[in-house]
Amino acid sequence: MNDTFLKACRGEQVDYTPVWMMRQAGRYLPDYQRVRGTVTFLELCKNPELAAEVTLQPVDIIGVDAAILFSDILIPMEAMGSPLEFQANHGPVFPQPVRSQADVDRLIVPDPEETMGFVLETIRILRRELEHKVPLIGFSGAPFTLATYLIEGGSSKFFLETKRMMFAAPALYTSLLDKITACTSSYLQAQAKAGAQALQIFDSWAGVLAPGDYERYALPYVQRIISDLRKTTDVPIIYFANNGATLLELARTSGADVLGLDWRIDIANAVKQVDGAVSLQGNMDPCALFLPHDEIEKRVTRILAGARNARGHIFNLGHGILPPTPPENAKFFVQAVQRLSRK
Ligand code: CP3
Repeated sequence: MNDTFLKACRGEQVDYTPVWMMRQAGRYLPDYQRVRGTVTFLELCKNPELAAEVTLQPVDIIGVDAAILFSDILIPMEAMGSPLEFQANHGPVFPQPVRSQADVDRLIVPDPEETMGFVLETIRILRRELEHKVPLIGFSGAPFTLATYLIEGGSSKFFLETKRMMFAAPALYTSLLDKITACTSSYLQAQAKAGAQALQIFDSWAGVLAPGDYERYALPYVQRIISDLRKTTDVPIIYFANNGATLLELARTSGADVLGLDWRIDIANAVKQVDGAVSLQGNMDPCALFLPHDEIEKRVTRILAGARNARGHIFNLGHGILPPTPPENAKFFVQAVQRLSRK
């Protein structure tokens, strides 16, 4: 198996910089569209054979150095008892937002095997299929990010309801976050047990918080999940706090092996801030994949140079690949990273 990705997570010597892309199994690939044309998004997530098929597509078509389980961060929120819908062009919707103590009390901390067995089955299928290929990354959302969806009832612009609860009803907020954290902890442990070889925690909305609020209302739950995981598994843990340039010093204390970076920070600056304590993942602007090939190469070269003194570097985009991206540019990008970084 190509274990370059796992080595870079641990800060071990590698022959070249491994690369994968957030949202690499998705709508930019015609092969994904073909499968997705036959089922809804949630049906795809809940069908282990199909979910495994689309997970493998970017490995076979694009040549990435790691596979990421095809699922969604909101699956466990549905398992906690909050009905979930994906509406075309509207993204995720929770028709019954969580706003009161009674709403929180109605949520359960589910047994992952009983309620999300389809995810664990997808992982088992993938480990067989990936045996001589690349490692498999499992994932979850971070508790704060998951809470925003439950509280707002979907995506949001100002996060007013979330911050209202956080600032004005901290005990209610804490009771919700404790439950989400317990669910996420056991869900990630179950993924590692089923065969996930690394775990990424997506904190997509961390960047909407002031550092002091992040430190008090978001980071402690991530720390709890990671310290729980350390008791049962030694798989590398990646923490991605999106839009988190001002949170890096704090995120460094999460306990993760790798910190994911969005494109808004110069990676050389991030290397200085983490000072050898962790590996880094990132961070090319996904819009750069629309540039001519020589311009993509220039940006890859610049990021590789900036990460030269990192403990370990996993190349990635600074956030998910965009649906209109030409697949041949994604492939060129991945090959450019592998070629230009080779010692
Ligand atoms: O990275 C991968 O390839 C693995 C699969 C994956 C998906 N979602 C598939 C998906 C992962 C890791 C996620 C995580 C996820 N889901 C996050 C965190 C990452 C991030 O982007 O910050 C968030 C915030 C979600 C919630 C979510 N799911 C949103 C906001 C959307 C977009 C809605 C839209 O219509 O654009 C989704 C849907 C979703 N998740 C799609 C995919 C491939 C598109 C669904 C489709 O086929 O129509």
